[in-house]
Amino acid sequence: MKRKMSMVVILALLSFKTATAQKAPQYEKASIEELIKAMTPREKANLLVGPGMPGYAGLVPLEGEPDVRVLGEAGGNDEIPRLGIPETVFADGPAGLRIEPKRKNDPNTYYATAFPVGTALASTWNTDLIEAVGEAMGEEVKEYGVDVLLAPALNIHRNPLNGRNFEYYSEDPLVAGKIASAYIKGIQSHDVGTSIKHFAANNQETNRLAVNAHISERAMREIYLRGFEIAIKESKPWTVMTAYNKLNGTYASANKDLLTTILRDEWGYEGLVMTDWFGGYPGFESILEEGSVSDVVAQINAGNDLLMPGTEAQRDALAKAIEEGNVNEEAVNASLRRILEYIRKSPTTDKYKFSNKPDLEAHAQVTRKAAAEGMILLKNDDNVLPFTDKSGSIAVFGDHSYSFIAGGTGSGDVNEAYSISLLQGLDNAGYTVDKELQNLYEPFVAQAVENENKRREEIGLLADNKRLPEMLPEDELVEAKAKSADVAVITLGRNSGEQFDRKIDDDFYLGQDEVKLINTVTKAFHAEGKKVIVILNIGGVIETASWKDKVDAILLAWQPGQEGGNSVADVFSGEVNPSGKLTMTFPIDYNHHASAANWLGEPVQKPTDVYYKEGIYIGYRYFNTFDVKSSYEFGYGNSYTTFEYSDLKLSSSNFNDEVEVSVKVTNTGKVAGKEVVQLYVNAPANMVDKPVQELKAFGKTKILKPGKSESLKFTLKAKDLASFVDEQSAWIVEEGTYTIKVGASSLDIKLKENLEVSSNITAEKVNNTFDLDTEMPVLKN
Ligand code: BGC
Repeated sequence: MKRKMSMVVILALLSFKTATAQKAPQYEKASIEELIKAMTPREKANLLVGPGMPGYAGLVPLEGEPDVRVLGEAGGNDEIPRLGIPETVFADGPAGLRIEPKRKNDPNTYYATAFPVGTALASTWNTDLIEAVGEAMGEEVKEYGVDVLLAPALNIHRNPLNGRNFEYYSEDPLVAGKIASAYIKGIQSHDVGTSIKHFAANNQETNRLAVNAHISERAMREIYLRGFEIAIKESKPWTVMTAYNKLNGTYASANKDLLTTILRDEWGYEGLVMTDWFGGYPGFESILEEGSVSDVVAQINAGNDLLMPGTEAQRDALAKAIEEGNVNEEAVNASLRRILEYIRKSPTTDKYKFSNKPDLEAHAQVTRKAAAEGMILLKNDDNVLPFTDKSGSIAVFGDHSYSFIAGGTGSGDVNEAYSISLLQGLDNAGYTVDKELQNLYEPFVAQAVENENKRREEIGLLADNKRLPEMLPEDELVEAKAKSADVAVITLGRNSGEQFDRKIDDDFYLGQDEVKLINTVTKAFHAEGKKVIVILNIGGVIETASWKDKVDAILLAWQPGQEGGNSVADVFSGEVNPSGKLTMTFPIDYNHHASAANWLGEPVQKPTDVYYKEGIYIGYRYFNTFDVKSSYEFGYGNSYTTFEYSDLKLSSSNFNDEVEVSVKVTNTGKVAGKEVVQLYVNAPANMVDKPVQELKAFGKTKILKPGKSESLKFTLKAKDLASFVDEQSAWIVEEGTYTIKVGASSLDIKLKENLEVSSNITAEKVNNTFDLDTEMPVLKN
């Protein structure tokens, strides 16, 4: 009897369980609304807060290999098994897909292509090429089973010392926005997602998780948001990643002005917003503290849908807030909806059978081409370059000639299968390098690299970078090489990455050892009537004014990705005619940047507050307006050929709502080449002060053979001509005379035409946002 009873109870229980399981709507069939309705508060919290970083408890590495779909992924949304909602996978970005190349008990490898860093890509000014790079990257994302690449990164180069500038594109928001947009289109053409980051004003690494950036609404809208606005409207990234920092007192990830009023209401963004990793916590240390939790309610209420990578404390806090009704229900549901909409379109939902075999060979060619096109010829006296004579030998100096840097460190690093050094590149192109120097340098550099790697490994995930000390060959040896070799090459290198900003001394400025090397080599080679070529293998701006006159040519190669040595050799030999141009100013003196006075913030030891007192006067906007001379100006770059500009025409000399500008560019030199054409506008400044000129459009010619021409067309709309007028919360095109200037750089203006605006035009009325949380004087012209 007893036994019978229990059978009945068991049967009853079983049928109850099946009934509830059957009742729960299932992801594959149910609508998003049905799923949301069926979720418990805990399930909601588990979907809104990620499950943590794979392989880590908080930030403490766990023993052994985590059981994940893609080893090395940065995280993803969690699964909700009861409802059949799957987990998806996010991985970094932005110079390529960052995943672990090897897995335990698996003979296969999972290398990804290391493409040129962001700054190098932007230096091409070639949006078609960037789209092709994106397509290649997107194929790797998809074929390795990843749903979202955590890229592109387009924070503005507010100051040359930002340790992550290499990941970012420019000091100008138009360049940043257009390059990001092309990159996103390329990647998303594979039906995988991107995450445009870090939204917004993550312009320094020092105290990045908590620093409060005080920024005027005008500077936000015209400088720090404009690139995001362009990219988001033009290319619809699947996701947006919020920045760590605070904006006028509120974390970016809890900032309703930013995430709801502007991003969604004004720009119409419909995708998913996620935090940066542990965004909203005041520091990485605090994640490990018992009971420490970000303000999850403020984050969800502001419109930050997904908290990444997620902590148990955040889940507990959010589940409780949902249960007790302490978080806006509408906001919770809207975020759940956006997360589910994203999962619905992911390759995971399609059960895409990824091959783990992307076409790495084809992508090597893409990166080789892109890197060469992003290189900038800063100086080329007596046409030293291209250096076509392969009969003699090249004396190669500088540690980084022997340890070429493909890309920066931190989450922006890529695990590539190989990296072509400068020496290999020159060798592949048929040049002979001096063996004696090579034999001296190689063991020295190998030891220096080993020491540096060991130091970094001991610090762990977020280690800083130290420059390698230069080996200084004896004067007699250098003099002997000046006699035996045909030419000298000196490579100067810099590396940096997440969590640390660069330094002024011995980083922005050359170290004494580097100065000495340049002096010794130039003295010896010039005494023999031979030339010295400097290759800059750097991720961010360095000082050039004090030493550029000593050398004959400077090729800015940036950190050019895994084919770097081949790309340099392509330009060196003339196989590729350089056509890159600077997307930022190279100042004479670090302090010439307006932002230098307000860099890193206060108090100096651990800045908690940074004041953007320079307002909109970032980069060339400052240098051009306040007549500060630079070493190399924004937009600058030489070629092996020359170009002539002619036939500047406006579709009308009076502006209504749109004007078309066309200009003809002719190759007047002896070799084929491409030209980057820049359109600047000088606008009347009666209502508000303005920079003397701002970039409003740019384009690049196809390869033009000598004597050949191409006409480029640009369309300018009201918003392109407008400035943000704070008092009216509007973008306004002021009446008066505008000068449309077309040129080869911000200072090398070739042609000008006037455009009349007969009365003020409100290009766009927006909301009043970003009230300053403190009094702050802002620079005016
Ligand atoms: C970086 C992000 C990155 C994330 C995931 C953060 O530390 O700031 O750019 O996407 O980590 O790795």
